[in-house]
Amino acid sequence: MVYLSYNKSPPACFRKPHFPFWDIQIFMNNEWHDSCCGRRIPVYNPATGELLCEVEEGDKEDIDKAVKCARQAFQLGSPWRRMDASERGRLLCKLADLVERDRQILATLEAIDSGKLFLVAYFVDLVGTIKTLRYYGGWADKIQGKTIPVDGEYFTFTRHEPIGVCGQIIPWNFPLLMFAWKIAPALCCGNTVIIKPAEQTPLTALHMASLIKEAGFPPGVVNIVPGYGPTAGHAIAQHMDIDKVAFTGSTDVGKIIKKAAGNSNLKRVTLELGGKNPNIVFADSDLEHAVEQAHHGLFFNQGQCCLAGSRVFVEEPIYDDFVLKSVERAKKRVLGNPLVPGVDQGPQIDKKHFDKILELIESGRREGAKLECGGGAWGQKGFFIQPTVFSDVTDDMRIAKEEIFGPVQQIMKFSSIEEVIRRANNTHYGLAAGVFTNDINKALTISAALQAGTVWVNCYNAMSSQCPFGGFKMSGNGREMGEYGLQEYTEIKTVTIKIPQKNS
Ligand code: NAI
Ligand code: MG
Repeated sequence: MVYLSYNKSPPACFRKPHFPFWDIQIFMNNEWHDSCCGRRIPVYNPATGELLCEVEEGDKEDIDKAVKCARQAFQLGSPWRRMDASERGRLLCKLADLVERDRQILATLEAIDSGKLFLVAYFVDLVGTIKTLRYYGGWADKIQGKTIPVDGEYFTFTRHEPIGVCGQIIPWNFPLLMFAWKIAPALCCGNTVIIKPAEQTPLTALHMASLIKEAGFPPGVVNIVPGYGPTAGHAIAQHMDIDKVAFTGSTDVGKIIKKAAGNSNLKRVTLELGGKNPNIVFADSDLEHAVEQAHHGLFFNQGQCCLAGSRVFVEEPIYDDFVLKSVERAKKRVLGNPLVPGVDQGPQIDKKHFDKILELIESGRREGAKLECGGGAWGQKGFFIQPTVFSDVTDDMRIAKEEIFGPVQQIMKFSSIEEVIRRANNTHYGLAAGVFTNDINKALTISAALQAGTVWVNCYNAMSSQCPFGGFKMSGNGREMGEYGLQEYTEIKTVTIKIPQKNS
């Protein structure tokens, strides 16, 4: 077990430090609690299918308790409300330092819990997490209102205030990074948080609990409740005393959450949902570069990315070459143990997801797409799927319309810029898009025409804490990250004061 070979004692949240008999508790008020229902969630390693440990399962009652803690921490006059904004920023930066200290533990936990490659966890997820915490640490004392030249004898200014208690529900594909994307802007603006990690991947969130306490955040500011979606997740969405819910996950659950928010207290809602993202390759692009970028744009993280470039539109003159090179590239992928260097692809998250991907691959075959490589399961254990490439894909096929969230690349042919714009936009989704061309006019035309929250030109997956991220259409509501992310965690208050006389 890699974790135990690391030269450190297990984190405080592990009550029984004898793998695999740890169980892990709910974190509220900077303390660890058993669940009210007495149940536990089994936590598996998807590379082997083996049970890693069990985690206390939060349900509605636990969410109620967590909300009380978060509400208490948000009361006027509380240590958190009275804290200088610069001190909030310092705490976020301290948390970043602690994550950096525990980078190896966290990357290992992430790899064994989610099947993500250790090196990806270490160099992508951990770096992104640390940068996100520091980025918002820097913003904390720079959130400013305005003074406004109103009509009449008045003086008006705005205050950007925290919204209050924020419920946050995150998925399993980037468990730690999504944790940071959610808590960092919320805390930066002075909110308190109840966060529910995905049932498949609660471990890094619970290690973060011990770091949040160690950093010195006051009790109740961050509360972490592992649990299932329809129980603990739903309790957050419909809670009468949660002021805002932020969710990342499937579009279907996004709809349920928005409905629950409407049916309860009209809490603010931000949603980061699915995508069926077009990646457009023109004949004038650098072919090798486009093939490589399109490959990573789809296969990164076992294809389990909301921004995966899963509809690759290739211009007719280079179509056959592009398919050939993409297939060669896909066949080079090395599958295996995510902890071993040299492995490019780990398992899918769980059996349910593995079955969904195989079913979609089967539908592609049935509907007449050409299976160029892959198409089945891989290995004797765990949930591995062969890198799969389909050519001759048409827009009406399920594999061209539905989010597969797996290592399955669809390559389509186009012949004019007008045609590809129309086809690229012909989807309910609108998260991200890519375009490869050496013609600046084509690049600008495409980036203006595509309905997508992010457009990459001659690159793909180029993410940064400073950039807003979110979707058009059914890919979501609102933006996370960057300065725009702050707007989702503040209420604007207008204060108008009667004055005896105004002078310009
Ligand atoms: P999901 O949307 O069910 O799960 C994401 C989170 O939502 C988890 O924390 C889950 O516990 C919670 N949740 C589930 N039902 C809920 C409910 N009724 N109320 C409140 N919270 C709820 O996604 P799932 O089933 O894990 O994956 C299904 C598909 O969703 C994937 O195949 C993929 O297409 C998409 N997905 C998209 C993600 C993204 O990054 N946008 C991340 C994960 C999945
Ligand atoms: Mg797991």
